[in-house]
Formats: sequence, structure tokens, C-alpha cells
Amino acid sequence: MRDATVPDQPPSVLRRRYGLGARWFHWVTALLVFTVIPLGWIFGAFKTKPGAPDTFVAPFPGTPADHASAHMTVGLVLFPIIALRVLYRFRHSPPRLPGTMGAFEKGLAHLMHWLLYAVLIAMPVSGYIMSSGDKAPIRFLGLIDFPKVPTTPGQGMTAAIVHVYAQFAVYTLVILNLAGTAWHLFVRRDNILGRMLPRQSNHD
Ligand code: HEM
Ligand code: HEM
Repeated sequence: MRDATVPDQPPSVLRRRYGLGARWFHWVTALLVFTVIPLGWIFGAFKTKPGAPDTFVAPFPGTPADHASAHMTVGLVLFPIIALRVLYRFRHSPPRLPGTMGAFEKGLAHLMHWLLYAVLIAMPVSGYIMSSGDKAPIRFLGLIDFPKVPTTPGQGMTAAIVHVYAQFAVYTLVILNLAGTAWHLFVRRDNILGRMLPRQSNHD
């Protein structure tokens, strides 16, 4: 039943939890982001120097080309998922935040979410552009070479700077997402985490 105090809100806003689609997108994205980042560190730390043979033995299985492909594969899977997630988010408003949160706090939460979406788009796009300017292939699953986009050295360099520095925005925003969730869970006790989980009982 619609809440009489907020007559003009779409039905999704009146729910207490995110819908199945939003929850699915959230947890799949979280899993893939927590995977692509360490793969990026391994790739970045042990990549082959220009002109050197691709046999450098890193303290991880595989050659630098395998590390590159592993990182790019997860990044390439993430990109359409994030793009679809943003489209889905435009069409499905999140559920109303609890009344325990003030207007400023609610605005801050929404700002953080949209900044996260922005950096999650910027990362694969900049990764693709920087890799297009590189000699090495953009290899999916170690098998399929993706087409490169035309890139000038200047664009490749800009994309590389964005990719390397925007990672810190991802870390900061994910930590804030986790810190906010923990704050609501342990201090406010207003069950914000429950909004991203399946229904726990028949009472909510
Ligand atoms: C264990 C890890 C995580 C937990 C416990 C968690 C928890 C949550 C919770 C409870 C919300 C709902 C906040 C609300 O009700 O307004 C949320 C929203 C969100 N989280 Fe996470 N999160 C985690 C990881 C991540 C990661 C890795 C990302 C992406 C890099 C992420 C991106 C987002 C975004 C974009 C939203 C906003 C959803 C929307 O309104 O469109 N989260 N998270
Ligand atoms: C959401 C998706 C992505 C995230 C979060 C991400 C994150 C990262 C991180 C954390 C690093 C390590 C940077 C460092 O060593 O300081 C990295 C490196 C790299 N990533 Fe990504 N990445 C993503 C997608 C992609 C995609 C789709 C590609 C290419 C198709 C790509 C290409 C690269 C390259 C070439 C490097 C090596 C940078 C260097 O050290 O020269 N990334 N990425």
C-alpha cells in the first residue's frame, strides 16, 4: 500500500529495501571490484619492461601477459554491468532513507553513491583507452583480442593518469561506503545494511 504521507513517490521509494535487481547489481559489482583491484596491483607491479621478454617470474602464477589479461578480463566484464546498473538506477529510485537521517546526511549518502558510479565508469573507460595506446593486446580470458580505439599518445597518457589516480577515489569511496554501513549497523542501529540484503523476516 502507498504511504499517504508521501503521495507522489514512485512505489520503489516506498519500499524498505532495494529491489532484487539493485541488490544483485550491488553485490556482483562489489565482488568484481574486490577482484579487479588486486589483479590491477599485481599487473601494475610485475608488468614487463618495454622490450623485455614476457618471462619475468612474479611471485604469482602466470606471466605478466596473463596478469594483464586477468585484470582486463574482470574490468571488461565490469564495464557493461556498471553501465546497466547506472541505467537501472535511473529507472528505479532507491528506497526512502530512514527518518533517523537528516537532510544533510541523506544528501551526502546520495552524493557518495553517484561519485562511486562516476569512478566505476571512469576506471574501465580510462583503462581501455590507455591500453589502446599500448603495443600489448587487450586480451579477454587470455584468448580474444578486443579491438583498440584510435588513441593519440597524449590521450593514452591522460587515460593512464586518470586510471592510476582514480583508483584512490575508488578506495576512498568504497571505504566510506563500508564505514557508513558500519556506522549505521553498530551506532545508529537503523538497519541500513538490511536494505541491501534479502528479506530477513516477515516483519519488514
Ligand atoms: C562488503 C562490502 C559492502 C557492503 C557491506 C556494502 C553495503 C552497502 C549498503 C548497506 C548500501 C545501501 C545504502 C543505502 O541504503 O542507501 C550500499 C550502497 C551502495 N554501495 Fe555498497 N557495500 C559494499 C561494497 C561496495 C562496493 C565494493 C561498491 C562499489 C565499488 C559499492 C557500491 C555501492 C553503491 C554505488 C551504492 C549505492 C546504491 C544506490 O543507491 O544506487 N558497495 N552499499
Ligand atoms: C572497474 C574497472 C577497473 C578498475 C577498478 C581498475 C583498477 C586498476 C588498478 C587498481 C590498477 C593498478 C594501478 C597501479 O599499479 O597503481 C590498474 C592497472 C591497470 N589497468 Fe585497470 N582497472 C579497471 C579496468 C581496466 C580495464 C578494462 C583495462 C583495459 C582494458 C585496464 C587496464 C589497466 C592497465 C593497462 C593497468 C597498468 C597500469 C600501469 O601500471 O601502467 N583496467 N587498474
